[in-house]
Amino acid sequence: MNENNLDKLIYKKLSRRELLKSSGRTAAVLAACAVFPSGFIELLNNRKGSLKAVSPDKYSPIPFKPILPSTEDKLILPEGFEYTIIRKWGDNISDDTPYGFNNDYVAYMQIDYHTGGNNSEDGLLIVNHEYPSPLFINKYSDEDFKNGRIKTKEETDRERKFTGINIFRVKKIDGKWEFTEDINFNRSINAMTPIKLSGKAAGAEELKFKDYADGTLANCSGGITPWGTVLSGEENFQDHYSSDNVWEYRWNDTNKDFINEHYGWVVEVDPFDKNSIPKKRTSLGRFRHENVAIGISKRGKAVAYMGDDKVNECVYKFITKNNYDPKDKKKNEDILDEGDLYVADFLNNKWQLLDFEKREVLKNNFRSQADVLVNCDKASKLAGGTECNRPEDIEINPADNSVFISFTNNSGKEDYFGSIVRIVENENDFESLNFEWEVFAKGGADSGFSCPDNLTFDNDGNLWVLCDISTSKINKDRQKPFKNNSLFMIPVSGENKGRAFLFASGPVECELCGGTFTPDGSTMFISVQHPGEGTVDYDNPTSRWPMYGDDIPRPAVVAVTGFKK
Ligand code: FEO
Ligand code: CA
Ligand code: CA
Repeated sequence: MNENNLDKLIYKKLSRRELLKSSGRTAAVLAACAVFPSGFIELLNNRKGSLKAVSPDKYSPIPFKPILPSTEDKLILPEGFEYTIIRKWGDNISDDTPYGFNNDYVAYMQIDYHTGGNNSEDGLLIVNHEYPSPLFINKYSDEDFKNGRIKTKEETDRERKFTGINIFRVKKIDGKWEFTEDINFNRSINAMTPIKLSGKAAGAEELKFKDYADGTLANCSGGITPWGTVLSGEENFQDHYSSDNVWEYRWNDTNKDFINEHYGWVVEVDPFDKNSIPKKRTSLGRFRHENVAIGISKRGKAVAYMGDDKVNECVYKFITKNNYDPKDKKKNEDILDEGDLYVADFLNNKWQLLDFEKREVLKNNFRSQADVLVNCDKASKLAGGTECNRPEDIEINPADNSVFISFTNNSGKEDYFGSIVRIVENENDFESLNFEWEVFAKGGADSGFSCPDNLTFDNDGNLWVLCDISTSKINKDRQKPFKNNSLFMIPVSGENKGRAFLFASGPVECELCGGTFTPDGSTMFISVQHPGEGTVDYDNPTSRWPMYGDDIPRPAVVAVTGFKK
């Protein structure tokens, strides 16, 4: 489209005056806090410079006419694009297996993945289900919780079944995507499935000498490994099983035997082998894992980037001891069990080692490497890790190996809209222990986006950003101008570099998650998570997406089509 029209659309979508009005109190608050160190935001604000490009600067045309922000209870897409619901809560993925609640990460793996194919019309979807809604699943309300009602075991088990990882086949038939029954692949790995504990903390005293965990939970985002497995991040595990639990979805009351230390890990699953046992990779550390992005270093090591999604927590990377073998899938099977874990030091542009044997400071404060891994968030600060503003997704730009990180926000540190940071490792090698970094894009009035979360790259190298303004803040005060949570495309080079173009607006109180393209780039799968999350009255929900009428809101995974191949 004509560039002038495009400009008008972009700058119309956010009225600067509206934003200033809604954040009028900010200046006074900032002045009052000026004497206190503002932490990571200060570092971000001082990073104005741009890194030297490591790939050619190319112009990226915008492949759609951007939409405007919306408060409608709809999934809105640009002209020429449409969505198909693949599965929604209430559907099954096999005869006796229900589709989970609150879908988050979604991966598409073509059915011919292991023979080097690129089938973009037949594959597996691997979908994380982060947490249940006690209200919509069990009609168990916040009031019940406050009044001390204890869920029955049946209620807890129902919630556990709707949490975890779903794997199922999808096919595009006559131009339309469909869920496909397939007993060879379709399965649910949920909060009741036995999961093997693997790696340096497995069997340790901190894990009560156990080799198996009782299920997986809090599965947020994830990643596909170069060897064809899927990684799932266990994020807010404390909401279910911590002793200071204050959430109405706690499961402690009916599962007294839980072991808190069995959660908060990265889980690895082989979606193509239905009989394979999922494993928790404890060598990668225990924290509120958002996702994992893996690159292969120049020497052939697998390097896994990870974020701890909590205010003032850190970014990590793990370098495997053994080399990745592109020719023998089996050899990579347990590659994530041996290696070194590091934490990012953004002050000194260094990766700091988290090895009990090699760091005096860790020896003085912990009992063993297992102790360090279980209590990663404490060890990381002692080892020189930088407290960040809630690291969400981390993705590697396939065009130049630079590493993009969403720092979603940290309102306690005056960071309300978040930012996206780009790291370039020294020598452009994932194994390097030194790096440079820049602020690639900042949320707020100028960019039009707020609270970046999931990231993905398309085949043209554009970055796609899915936003997550929390339900307690959305459409209120300083977040009001951004309206419902949405999805933006941001070119990483060319004249539109760093500018956000609005592609999708989600239904009321939802978060758009996932965002994964088929190999040919023609379809993007998106999870619509927690529509109507602010509902307090089951009979009067704040959203009725996607079925409308008298129905309650239902999280769903959708296929968005209309992209040119
Ligand atoms: Fe589950 Fe960090 O979002
Ligand atoms: Ca997320
Ligand atoms: Ca989130």
